[in-house]
Amino acid sequence: MNSTPEADWLNLLIGLLQGAQLQLLRVLDALGLAAKVHGQAAWPWAHRLSGENLLIDLGQARNLAWTLVCMAAAVLALLVALSWRRRRLYVLALVPMLLIAAPWPEAQVVLVPATPTSFQSSPTGFTAASIAKGRLLYAQNCVACHGADGKGEGPLAASLAVWPPNLSGPLLWRRADGDLLWRILHGTRGAQRQPTMPGFAARLDEADAWALIDYMKAQGAGQSLRALGNWPQPIGLPDMAVRCGAQPPRLLASWRGQRVRIVAGNATPAEDPRLVTVQLVPPSQTTPPAADCVADSPAAWEALALIAGTDRLAGTQLIADRDGWLRARGEPGKAGWSDDDLLCRSERASAASAEGAALPADGLGALIARMDAEPVRFIKGGFIH
Ligand code: HEC
Repeated sequence: MNSTPEADWLNLLIGLLQGAQLQLLRVLDALGLAAKVHGQAAWPWAHRLSGENLLIDLGQARNLAWTLVCMAAAVLALLVALSWRRRRLYVLALVPMLLIAAPWPEAQVVLVPATPTSFQSSPTGFTAASIAKGRLLYAQNCVACHGADGKGEGPLAASLAVWPPNLSGPLLWRRADGDLLWRILHGTRGAQRQPTMPGFAARLDEADAWALIDYMKAQGAGQSLRALGNWPQPIGLPDMAVRCGAQPPRLLASWRGQRVRIVAGNATPAEDPRLVTVQLVPPSQTTPPAADCVADSPAAWEALALIAGTDRLAGTQLIADRDGWLRARGEPGKAGWSDDDLLCRSERASAASAEGAALPADGLGALIARMDAEPVRFIKGGFIH
């Protein structure tokens, strides 16, 4: 969540760093110069540029931004020198001057250790099925150290040299997904290079590890909601199969671009033109549901119960925004919507509404207006919200 004036340019800068490196890797891959590791192109270097530390060190972030400006100006000067013969020497002299004048950031701030999978992204699409798969694998392989709730208090935890981290904090969102994948498969090492967590590559493949990452994020979201009453890290609406009348089943993600409301339980929800409404049927229900659109896989129920941090999902409503981020929860038995139901929010939007921007009078309308006013901007290793 950010409401600082720095947020915009910093987000842009971090996005630029990430995008440029990703493109470089794509080019290397297209030229056949990148090896394949765990199914995708491997980052060939031991380091990468990262925005993670820039968030903490604004001064360095500014230096980096100015350095990029100077480099762009140097490139421009080179181009001008090529075409402007008479003044070529003067213009060329600008190039080293610009590069010397640039306030280069400290290398250790922007260069972080990379793994071969640093820039890989999850192929799962964050589905209810992958979360369910991750749940099983977590129970079999991880729970002894990380604990059933992911807080790092499993029965083995106290016997380890390093205490396992709290997986329901911001850690999973701060890390690049690809780095998480690498650590699950190949283990982690501490400051003295001593092994701290064993690698699981002998037992699990990359599809398993990606499923585990989905599960840990869903679990982390639920734990945060329990502890803090909100989702401090944005969490997506897991994808699932939906049936609408006699039409063939389609994926929830096929409505991306529209707002989606999930209504868990037996009661048939009222339709609302502002949202796509999907009834999530409890695994125990035997009577056919009456809603137009229905999701009825047990995995879908489980995944949303996990994210909502509750064993009693029936009666809960969840709203996802046009980009597929879960934003609001209506608790069972509560009539109507209010501001408090917006669980994934940014301070900027609350400031705007506090200033008295005209909001629709009904609770849901006001909620939707706020949701739309501040979409989730999400860059790995950078700002969230
Ligand atoms: C033997 C105990 C143990 C087991 C089993 C274990 N972990 Fe860990 N895990 C740790 C410890 C200890 C750390 C902290 C390592 C560190 O900070 O150096 C850790 C760290 C992590 C991290 C954070 C990595 C990071 O980027 O900082 C993730 C994610 C993780 N474990 C996932 C898993 C998953 C998934 C499994 C099951 C497949 C698993 N762990 C099994 C002990 C364990």
